[in-house]
Amino acid sequence: MTRSKIELCDVTPNNIKQLKCLNQVVFPVSYNDKFYKDVLEAGELAKLAYYNDSVVGAVCCRIYTSENLRCLYIMTLGCLYHYRRLGIGTKMVEHVLNYVEKDRNFDSIFLHVQVNNEGAIKFYKKFGFEIVETKEWYYKRIEPADAHVLQKTLRPQS
Ligand code: ACO
Repeated sequence: MTRSKIELCDVTPNNIKQLKCLNQVVFPVSYNDKFYKDVLEAGELAKLAYYNDSVVGAVCCRIYTSENLRCLYIMTLGCLYHYRRLGIGTKMVEHVLNYVEKDRNFDSIFLHVQVNNEGAIKFYKKFGFEIVETKEWYYKRIEPADAHVLQKTLRPQS
């Protein structure tokens, strides 16, 4: 029943401050003005999650290309502590999965997660993400500094 109260909305100049406040509370890393400038141009790749008309979560992604790969990179995906385990994270991941499915031209979805973030790792594994690499000293200002790369392969690499 709770799921019907969750809505995803566009990020606009009118609500970008809410996104900034949310990210400051949810993530140990702070994001610069360029991050938010790009988010405003991201269209469906950035969404705010509302629960009963309050902003409680957000997802921000960008397209990453390298050599002959085209991937979707989840930069941030999180929700406020008191609103966790209500399906808000699921709604945001499902949005991302629908996006790549419609596009049909992505090789994978990936993200970095702190190695001690067991809850997030379990969460992403539910959606078919796997740890494919661990990067030492990935984070500069937080402990632990190491990050796992979580990836969901959408088409096998040739
Ligand atoms: N421990 C174990 N399993 C979990 C946890 C947890 N802490 N959180 C979610 N899950 C699993 C469960 O199987 C859960 O289903 P259940 O509640 O029926 O058992 C399922 O994932 C779906 O959970 P949701 O309610 O949809 O997820 P939620 O809204 O709580 O969001 C999230 C999960 C995003 C990881 C949240 O805990 C959060 O915002 N954490 C802080 C920010 C963060 O760590 N973000 C992710 C890493 S950074 C990045 O994504 C780039």
